Amino acid sequence: MSSPFLTAVNISHTFQDLPVLANISLEIPSGGFVALVGPSGIGKSTLLRILAGLLRPSSGEIHMTDDSRQEPIGLVFQRDNLMPWRTVAENVRLPLELMRVNGRKADGRVQKMINLVGLAGFENSYPAQLSGGMAQRVALARALVHEPLFLLLDEPFGALDALTRERMGLELLRIWEAMPVTVFMVTHSISEAVFLADEVLVMGGSPGTGRPATITHRIVTGLPRPRDLAIERTAVFQDCVTAVRAAIESSV
Ligand SMILES: Nc1ncnc2c1ncn2[C@@H]1O[C@H](COP(=O)(O)OP(=O)(O)OP(=O)(O)O)[C@@H](O)[C@H]1O
Ligand SMILES: [Mg+2]
Repeated sequence: MSSPFLTAVNISHTFQDLPVLANISLEIPSGGFVALVGPSGIGKSTLLRILAGLLRPSSGEIHMTDDSRQEPIGLVFQRDNLMPWRTVAENVRLPLELMRVNGRKADGRVQKMINLVGLAGFENSYPAQLSGGMAQRVALARALVHEPLFLLLDEPFGALDALTRERMGLELLRIWEAMPVTVFMVTHSISEAVFLADEVLVMGGSPGTGRPATITHRIVTGLPRPRDLAIERTAVFQDCVTAVRAAIESSV
């Protein structure tokens, strides 16, 4: 077994007087795809920000493998957060500019990512000229252009309609299979979590107030890869969905 990409040990977090997270320990395997589900407001984004290194937890530790510690990460949020005055190509190029990667090398990487997310031909379009799904694909290209080893997604497809959402999920799997990237994704959709991830973590609250929250269940799906949408009609897929739903219901 290879060592985990990231290990969180006993993470707790309190905002002012509000205890949000307590005693969260988890492992994200190298090259794995882990999903996190749980009710609104429980602390999923807070945990994602802690794992991304954007927020220091009140207590607990994050350990990463040595070669991943110094690497830049990729982040995608629920809203695409594109810069409206920049074209698609200029938006995707932003992380490279921040890392001072310029010239032909940058051009090549930007074009490769735009092709990978299926936006060839839209390089010079502005965000206002794109559909929601296209804008989210630009956000995904921007998160991956600097070839991060760790991609964190916070409800990246939350604003999309069901069909576009399914297509984006398939695209994300295709990209993940083509790159050596470890993924941690927050989603509200149980079926999306089961379809995409190797394991689904369920965040639940303490009895009564619901605070602080912790990881109450870890469900390893064991579904085969590569996956396509036909898997959703199988009994084993439905069993996983039922297990995650039961875990959520037992932990609120
Ligand atoms: N910067 C902050 N300062 C104070 N409280 C915060 C801050 N960020 C989040 N919180 C509080 O922490 C709790 C958890 O918020 P968080 O955004 O992590 O929830 P979530 O599970 O991601 O919810 P959702 O599914 O709606 O996105 C909420 O009660 C929220 O009000
Ligand atoms: Mg959130």
